[in-house]
Amino acid sequence: MNKLRLKDIIKTPEVVGIGNPVDVKGWVRTKRGNNFVQFIQLNDGSIVTNLQVVADTDKFDEALLKQITTGSCIHVTGKLVESQGKGQNVEVQAETIEIYGTADPEIYPLQKKGHSMEFLREIAHLRPRTNYFGCVLRLRHAMAFAIHKYFNDRGFYYLHTPLITASDAEGAGEMFNVTTFDLNNIPRTKDGQIDYKQDFFGKHTNLTVSGQLEGELGAMALGNIYTFGPTFRAENSNTPRHLAEFWMIEPEMAFYDITDNMDLAEDFIKYLVQYALDNNMDDLKFLNDMFDKELIARLESVTKVDFVRLGYTEAIDILLQAKKKFEYPVKWGIDLQSEHERYLVENHFKKPVILTDYPKEIKAFYMKQNDDGKTVRAMDVLFPTIGEIIGGSEREADYQKLLNRVHELGMTEEQYWWYFDTRKFGSAPHSGFGLGFERLLLFVTGMTNIRDVIPFPRTPQNAEF
Ligand code: 4AD
Ligand code: MG
Repeated sequence: MNKLRLKDIIKTPEVVGIGNPVDVKGWVRTKRGNNFVQFIQLNDGSIVTNLQVVADTDKFDEALLKQITTGSCIHVTGKLVESQGKGQNVEVQAETIEIYGTADPEIYPLQKKGHSMEFLREIAHLRPRTNYFGCVLRLRHAMAFAIHKYFNDRGFYYLHTPLITASDAEGAGEMFNVTTFDLNNIPRTKDGQIDYKQDFFGKHTNLTVSGQLEGELGAMALGNIYTFGPTFRAENSNTPRHLAEFWMIEPEMAFYDITDNMDLAEDFIKYLVQYALDNNMDDLKFLNDMFDKELIARLESVTKVDFVRLGYTEAIDILLQAKKKFEYPVKWGIDLQSEHERYLVENHFKKPVILTDYPKEIKAFYMKQNDDGKTVRAMDVLFPTIGEIIGGSEREADYQKLLNRVHELGMTEEQYWWYFDTRKFGSAPHSGFGLGFERLLLFVTGMTNIRDVIPFPRTPQNAEF
């Protein structure tokens, strides 16, 4: 079986050897030439660089060569030779060409270079064939792999938490319902309420907004776990940083306090960025040259600096003293907006910031309460160009304190009885956080819109494909 990818041939031509036969398959990016010779740029998705195929016109049928247009898929056999031209070391001197699939130039949408990102979003089924998305999708794969490697190497277990759940982990109520009811004929109880007892699960269920609560159950048994799966939020935020379906990585660790949690978050994210620099330099160089001239420098700098660690109250003081006029006014108690987060990171400190000890009113019920009665042991990691990339906390391990908070928020213990059981039976100090996978990818790729770092984005009014 000869299944070399173009990457192998371009990066390590010695696996074939100059002068030896090669067999290559891929999609045509461009074709140019003259009456004597045609140059075909071939790409199979394994690397951003194309492999040049040289076809002497006297060896091939004119009709066949005519069908080789941008977007078509071909199979070439020939000889690997040193390239005469600039821009590549090796090329293929074609001996046979088989056309797998043509792509009518009149209607194939990816003819020219330089399509806008907005246009490409409308053809999400074809955009992986562009250089940009090839780079982004290879980086997306590399980051997913590195995440599993990081945790596996450190003795964390991958826990699969449910996507369909009856709980609202964040208590924010931004959930998609899951039901098999006929929406035109919803069963009702005598007093007119929806009768969820008759629904598939016998209760009201929704898509998960976070695997954390179930993750905590795992941590109370296995010690250190992580989840890595899709999460769903029905928040109607049409911003470049929000998706309705996004992927989240949520480690949860027994016996970690907030400082251990911050140390892990910082080490984790630096490891991932370093992994991209070490393993995906071709893709990063392309994105750096074509899209964001500071990308590689920004990535390198993040791996070297110590993240700032700062309390929310001090951050508010800094923002109050800032010369900048913010759209959302600053005062103690507000939920920080992206403009505030980015001011701290990009203007004030010029490096990533981990903010801790937020007011309890703006954070979820499960966070460990501080002695001041006002703040909780939350931590958000704020990044240049992104704002919040990680949210986490030490968890409230005390049964009574957790119960009081749940009651304050108008929730009931019955809803979360299984969660409360961890505080009843062998409760332990523990912490965790959630990294938004697409936010990480925004940072690593330099892309500016979150819709461009996931293959098929789900946003309000948009669920094609
Ligand atoms: O801050 P969040 O809401 O935290 C949680 O869900 C916790 N249960 C995590 C934990 O402690 N285990 O979300 C965590 C991260 C955010 O920092 C952000 O990076 C990302 O998830 N995120 C989103 N990414 C894309 N689109 C959205 N709508 C997002 N909402 C949150
Ligand atoms: Mg958050």
